[in-house]
Amino acid sequence: MRVLTTFNHAGGAAKTSTTRDIGYTLAHHHGLRVLLIDVDPQANLSSWLGVPDASVERTVARSVLQNEPLPEPYRVHGLDLIPSNLELALVEAQLPGQIGGIRRLHRHLRALGERYDFVLIDSPPSLGQLSGLAAIAADALVVPVPTTHKGVGGVGAVRAMVQTYRELNEQLHVAFYLPTLYNAQIRHHRESLDVMRELLSPLGTPVTFRPAIYPDAHAANVPIGVYMPGSPADLEVRAATSELLAALGEASVAS
Ligand SMILES: Nc1ncnc2c1ncn2[C@@H]1O[C@H](COP(=O)(O)OP(=O)(O)O)[C@@H](O)[C@H]1O
Ligand SMILES: [Mg+2]
Repeated sequence: MRVLTTFNHAGGAAKTSTTRDIGYTLAHHHGLRVLLIDVDPQANLSSWLGVPDASVERTVARSVLQNEPLPEPYRVHGLDLIPSNLELALVEAQLPGQIGGIRRLHRHLRALGERYDFVLIDSPPSLGQLSGLAAIAADALVVPVPTTHKGVGGVGAVRAMVQTYRELNEQLHVAFYLPTLYNAQIRHHRESLDVMRELLSPLGTPVTFRPAIYPDAHAANVPIGVYMPGSPADLEVRAATSELLAALGEASVAS
């Protein structure tokens, strides 16, 4: 089992879209057993997969605050999902009072044994307790980076946080950087991508900004691979997924 957390403290980096679509692709095209975990109180991942109103018992809250085993996941589009809800914000507030609390997601996930090939955790757009919980639970991070000056500029803080989290998880590292929201028509984006190619490794092929498709897929509560299978948008996600597997040293078995 590999645990990957999609991590970038910046909001709007395409963390949640990446988690959903790569998760779907790992399950659907690579035949892997995938668990998605939503650790963002905004619960975008949950609502974009059709689970908008989960009760707090179905979230990670009790595992983290009361040290209980993980809840039974929902089944969506061939994936398992432990959703979030707004009450996860309580974890953000109460975790600092719990000795060892920030390592509990790591521990309860390992207790699942070999039930999954991949666990993908979607983290919130902050550097708070929940982001720490999600990063420390991981074997490695996937870092989506918008192809802008601001996007590239945020990577320094991501790397600094990885160093901090290593105090509690020595193996933690960035397994894969993914350029996101890329618009090849815009010179600034092309230049930012060039800078990323110099600075960031391993770096995936960019995922294009497609303002007509992504909001519709979110509204339909489905991954891009279900909304428009075989479309250029879907093929990009499949390419990114194969590149991620290659970066992890896993053979790609895409169909
Ligand atoms: N490839 C894309 N093309 C167009 N819009 C996108 C794309 N990826 C993400 N978005 C949009 O950008 C916004 C931020 O994406 P999201 O996945 O929520 O990022 P994060 O989780 O990092 O905040 C969302 O409104 C989403 O619909
Ligand atoms: Mg998000």
